Amino acid sequence: MATAASSLSDKLKSLSLAEPLPKYPNCYPEVNPVDVYRAHLTSILTEVTGVDASVVYPALQWTQTLEKGDLVLPVPALRVKGKKPPELAAEWVAKFPESPLVHKPTVNGTFLQFFFKVDKLAEILIPSIIERKKEFGLNPYLGLKDVKDPSKGKKRIIIEFSSPNIAKPFHAGHLRSTIIGGFLANLYEALGWDVIRINYLGDWGKQYGLLALGFERYGSEEALLVDPINHLFHIYVKISAELADEKAKITALEKEGKDASELKNEGLDEQARRYFKAMVDGDEKAVALWARFRGLSIKRYKETYARLNIHFDDYSGESQVKQERMDFAAQKMADMGVSEESEGAVIVDFSKHVPGKPGKSLERPIIKKKDGTALYLTRDISEMMQREDKYHFDEMIYVVASQQDLHLKQLFKIIELMGYKDLAKKCQHINFGMVLGMSTRKGTVKFLDDILRDVGEKMHEVMQKNQVKYEQVENPLATADILGISSVMVQDMSGKRINNYEFNMDAMTSFEGDTGPYLQYAHARLCSITRRANMSESDLLSANLSLLTEPHAQNLIRVISQWPDVVQNTLKTLEPTTILTYLFKMTHTISSSYDHLRIVGSEEELAKARMALYDASRVILSNGMRLLGLTPVERM
Ligand code: ARG
Repeated sequence: MATAASSLSDKLKSLSLAEPLPKYPNCYPEVNPVDVYRAHLTSILTEVTGVDASVVYPALQWTQTLEKGDLVLPVPALRVKGKKPPELAAEWVAKFPESPLVHKPTVNGTFLQFFFKVDKLAEILIPSIIERKKEFGLNPYLGLKDVKDPSKGKKRIIIEFSSPNIAKPFHAGHLRSTIIGGFLANLYEALGWDVIRINYLGDWGKQYGLLALGFERYGSEEALLVDPINHLFHIYVKISAELADEKAKITALEKEGKDASELKNEGLDEQARRYFKAMVDGDEKAVALWARFRGLSIKRYKETYARLNIHFDDYSGESQVKQERMDFAAQKMADMGVSEESEGAVIVDFSKHVPGKPGKSLERPIIKKKDGTALYLTRDISEMMQREDKYHFDEMIYVVASQQDLHLKQLFKIIELMGYKDLAKKCQHINFGMVLGMSTRKGTVKFLDDILRDVGEKMHEVMQKNQVKYEQVENPLATADILGISSVMVQDMSGKRINNYEFNMDAMTSFEGDTGPYLQYAHARLCSITRRANMSESDLLSANLSLLTEPHAQNLIRVISQWPDVVQNTLKTLEPTTILTYLFKMTHTISSSYDHLRIVGSEEELAKARMALYDASRVILSNGMRLLGLTPVERM
């Protein structure tokens, strides 16, 4: 960072900015060039308005559309009394001194609009992007516990995501959780947090006793090793069907007034119960078999996650919640009067703890069944406390479908009612809507691998339509695979998380519209320009950027200057679409520039300057794609 800071101050000196930049909270000019402008404008505006810098600085806002300026100041935000905003605005504009960095502000309603002097912006911005590459857009300061004292370390966040269930389908909810959670983990890491990625598997309960019985009957060692996820799923489907038959038989017998006790006492259901009991009691053989199922499934999941650039620090799961923990939590809930007995079970009646409608809407969840088994909610309560002990986190995010809104509300409220207010406050549910119509081409149940295989095949077909290009791609199948994954991910991240969307294979794999392949194409095109221009980094760094005078060039410079702000702003929205919308805006700006900003045929100095701009754009596009979890391709 030292070099970035010192090269920045040299640069500012060379721009004849007299005084060193003042230090403001949340101002990081060494990693965000727009903060140079915020600091500069703040020192001017404090003079001009007489308002304190601590009010001015945070009032400067960035804009979505550049026609409105690069930064704006809502005049009322400075809380100056006695005069109307337009009057104040006019006064301040009149007093505004000549600046090396910004034009005189313009007034738009109650806003002051600031337009950057783009030649200076280019000089501050472009070399910094070219030098810092993957680092550009990151801000290591935001995750510090104490910005003034970095030795105190980083804030820690747990992001729990994906969380599929062993021997069950990996459905759309898991897919979305994986994509969104992977992105959020990258985002926090980019902003300097210490991120712990947890996968909370559904891997415990009577159904795993049933699965073991199924394996005894239909299992094959070989099939288990080759494809554990599908094999276990098929066994589970088969044995579950048998269980359903058994239940139907019992009902039928009882209806006829016949004796069903043999089936009840010796049937599958009872056997599964006993098997699971053995697992709970630590029976070596039972636990070992279950542990193999779990271990092999995780191994296979890891391979698939790797294709999505995702890894986990901790494969936790319902099985990992300790009995002592649950006993402790149960005791605590009882002692605090949170839980109560009801018809032999233990429940939480929220209407007694939370007045009015909100209490009723939280319902009356069961914590412990009559037979003493702990439930999903109970495990989550104890797991949260376990995580607190293990990780001492500052925040925790659960990335889970909105179908489980109630579950997570109940969880957080119970923790609060148990007296752990601070713990509850650190937790947040990031939810999302459903994917409609997701099925494979063969119409079978979806596993993550099936989805990825399908979109990869589809992309391969799309690529083959352009034979000339297709033949230039070194490894077309691998490229098709990456493009397919990008299709799925970009479609998923296009809207706000909470919206449902239609799984549309044709739309997502198209090169037209705001799709994954389009983004990849935009990146590959910039790479191809770079290859053809074949300039060295020092060529680019020594380019005379004041030659970038065309409106297209200036517009692009302003757009790319927003990247660090976009990343930071995403921490507020926690929406992947904030990043994606920006990347599409940027790629559209680039693609409309190509005809106006040619490299081939341009005079050497101009070609260098334009190439520096394209290179900076490529770096940002690539950084943005990787932040989303995509793998940018260089050729396609
Ligand atoms: N395995 C669960 C499911 O498939 C999701 C787990 C969500 N996380 C949690 N802490 N409850 O529905």
